[in-house]
Amino acid sequence: MPDKRSRSLPLVGAQAKRDAAGAPNIGAGPRPASLLTRREFTAGSIAAATAAAGGLSALGITCSAPGNPVSDPVTNADATIRLIVNGASTEVGIDLRSSLLDVLREQLQLTGAKKGCDHGQCGACTVHLDGRRVASCLTFAVQADGREITTIEGLSPKDGPLHPMQQAFIDQDALQCGYCTPGQIMAAVACVREGNAGSAEQIREYMSGNLCRCGAYSAIVAAIQQAAPASEGT
Ligand code: FES
Ligand code: FES
Repeated sequence: MPDKRSRSLPLVGAQAKRDAAGAPNIGAGPRPASLLTRREFTAGSIAAATAAAGGLSALGITCSAPGNPVSDPVTNADATIRLIVNGASTEVGIDLRSSLLDVLREQLQLTGAKKGCDHGQCGACTVHLDGRRVASCLTFAVQADGREITTIEGLSPKDGPLHPMQQAFIDQDALQCGYCTPGQIMAAVACVREGNAGSAEQIREYMSGNLCRCGAYSAIVAAIQQAAPASEGT
C-alpha cells in the first residue's frame, strides 16, 4: 500500500537539505508536485504571514515585524491597541501572541485577575469583555482592541461602596485563600446578569467553570443568592 504521508508532507531534515542543495535524490524518482522544497515552504509561510498582517491592518491594528517595532520602541511591540479598561481608555503596545490576561497583569499592573491554569479550565482569570464574562487567558489581547473590559478593580467605584457581590462574599465568608475570588466574583456578577441565578442548582451549573481549590462552594452559592436581587442590572 502506498504511504500517503510521504506524498503529502513537506520535506524536512536531511531530505530537504539534499533537495535544497540540488543533490540527486537517488531512488526516489521525480519529485511529486505535492512535495515542497524548504525554499518553497518558506516562501509560502512568508506569504501567509503577510496576508495575516494585511488582515490586521484592515482592522485598524498597526503591525510590524518582530525586532522592527514601529509602535513601541521600548517594548518591541508588534502592535498598538486601544483598550477601555474599567472606563479608562488606554493605548498599549503588545506582542500579537499576548493573552488579555498577560497584558492586564504585566503591562497594565491590574493583578486582580489571576493566572490559575492558563488553559481556560479554572476561571481564575475571568473578566468582562463588553459586559460578558470571558477567560482572559484564552482571549488574545488583540481581540479586545477598542472594546470595554471590566476587571475586579473596576467593579465598584474607587472611593464608593463595594459592589453587592463583593459585600456578599465577605458576609458569607465565601473564600479561604482568596486566589479564585476575583474570578468567582466577576463570574457571579455575570451569572446574575445573564439570569442564571434563579436557584442554588442553577448557580452551581452556571458557576461550574470557576474552580475553588479551597472548596468554598457552598458559601459562594450563598453569596450569589444574597447578592442576586441587588446585583441585577449591575
Ligand atoms: S487561568 Fe484562565 S481559566 Fe484558568
Ligand atoms: S478560596 Fe482558595 S481557591 Fe477558592
